Amino acid sequence: MAYYRINGGRPLEGQVTISGAKNAALAIIPAAILAGQPCIIENLPIIEDVHVLTDILRLMGATVDLHENGWMRIDPTTIDNFEVTFDMVSKLRASYYLLGAMLGRYGHAALALPGGCSIGPRPIDFHIKGMRALGAKVSIKNGVVYADAEELRGADIYLDMVSVGATINIMLAACRAEGVTVITNAAKEPHVVDVANFLNMIGASIKGAGTDTIRIRGVKELHGCNYAIIPDQIEAGTFMIAAAATGGNVVINNIIPTHLEAISAKLMECGVMVTEGDDGSEFYMQVQASERLRAVNIKTLPYPGFPTDLQQPMMALLCSAKGNSYVMENIFEDRFNHVPELVRMGASITVTGRTALIEGVESLSGAAVHATDLRAGAALIVAALAADGVSTVHNIHFIDRGYEHFEQKLRSLGADIERVEE
Ligand code: UD1
Repeated sequence: MAYYRINGGRPLEGQVTISGAKNAALAIIPAAILAGQPCIIENLPIIEDVHVLTDILRLMGATVDLHENGWMRIDPTTIDNFEVTFDMVSKLRASYYLLGAMLGRYGHAALALPGGCSIGPRPIDFHIKGMRALGAKVSIKNGVVYADAEELRGADIYLDMVSVGATINIMLAACRAEGVTVITNAAKEPHVVDVANFLNMIGASIKGAGTDTIRIRGVKELHGCNYAIIPDQIEAGTFMIAAAATGGNVVINNIIPTHLEAISAKLMECGVMVTEGDDGSEFYMQVQASERLRAVNIKTLPYPGFPTDLQQPMMALLCSAKGNSYVMENIFEDRFNHVPELVRMGASITVTGRTALIEGVESLSGAAVHATDLRAGAALIVAALAADGVSTVHNIHFIDRGYEHFEQKLRSLGADIERVEE
C-alpha cells in the first residue's frame, strides 16, 4: 500500500491550477447515457473515481475513450447490460446516478446499493422517493435497487432535506419524463448547476438550477455534445486551506470565485489575506498568511454555506490556531473520523455529538496517521504540511479517489512530500 511521507513546516509558495470538479464529473459521465449520441467531456479530473466509473460504463457496454489530459468520449449507444452489480459499484457512492440515468434512458435499472466514503449512514431514500414520484416501481432485494417504468411522468417532488445526490438523480430521470417535474428544496451546489448545464446542452429543458426550485420539462430525445466541466470547488478550497495553514503565499488558478465565498470568508476571519483576481483569461485567488491564525467557529451547511467536504481540512488548520474553535457538522452524522488522527499529531479536540471543540495548540508534530475517507485524507495532508517534523499518511487510496496529481501539485508549491510505494 502506498503512503505519503511529508516533512512539514514549510510554507507553500507559488501557483497551482485547479482540476475539473470531481462531483460534477461523477454525475455528468452517467448523464451521458441519456444522450442518443456520443458526448465529449473535457476538463475531467483524472482521479480514481473517474477510472472506476469508466470501468462501470464499459462493463455496461458503452464505448468510452479516456485520455490522461482530461478528455473523454462516451458512446452510450452500445450499452446492452442494464445490471450494475455490487462488484462494479462497491468503490463508488456516486454510482447512484446510474439509477436516474438508466431509468430515464431505458425505463429500467438494476443497481447494487453504492459504496464510497464511510462518513456515517448515507441512505438513498430521497432518490427512491423521487423515482417513485416519477412513476417508477422501485424495490430493493438482496442489496440491489430495481427500478422500472413503462413511462416516467413529471411530478412535484419536495425533498425533506437538501440532498445533492437526490436533486441530480431526479433531474436525470426527469429529463425524458412526460411533462414537467418541479423539485422543491433542491440542492444549489455548483455541480448541480453544472450537471443541469450539461443536460441542457444535450437538449434537456431545465430551469432554476442554482436556486431551491428546479423545473424540468421532459423531452423525447437528447443528443450528443461537447462539454467542459467547471473547476473543483473543494480542491480549490483544500489548497486555500493548505496555503493558509502553512503560513504560505499561493495563487490558485482556474477557479470560480463565487463558489469559494464561504471558504474565503472563514479564512479572512482567521486572519488570512485572500484576494480575488482576473488575469484576463481566468479567475484566480491569492491566499497569504504570515502570522499565527485566529480560531473561528464553523457550521457546515448546504451551498452557499460552508461545505461539509472542507470541514475536515479546515479543522486541521484550526488545530494550531490561537484560541478555541467550534466546528459543527450539520450534513453528515459521523464525519469526525479524522479527529483521533489529528489528536495523534498533538491536536486538542473534544467531540460531543455533532460538535467538535478545538483548543488551538502552538503547533502540531509529525506522526504516522491513517486516512479513513477522502476528505479526512486531505485534512491529514494539511495537518502534516503544517506540522513540525515528519509524518506518514497512510490509506492514501482514499485521497487518490478525489484529488488529481495531489503530491505533484503540492511539490510544485515547495512541499516536501513523497509518495512511497510499499
Ligand atoms: C454529495 C457529494 C459529497 C458531499 C455531499 C454534501 C457527490 C458525489 N458527493 O454527496 O462530496 O459531501 O454531497 O455536500 O457529489 N440523505 C438522506 N437520504 C437520501 C440522500 C441524502 O437522508 O436519500 C442525507 C445524507 O445522509 C446527508 C444529507 O442528506 O445527511 C446530504 O446528503 P447529500 O447531499 O445527498 O450527499 P451526497 O449526494 O451523498
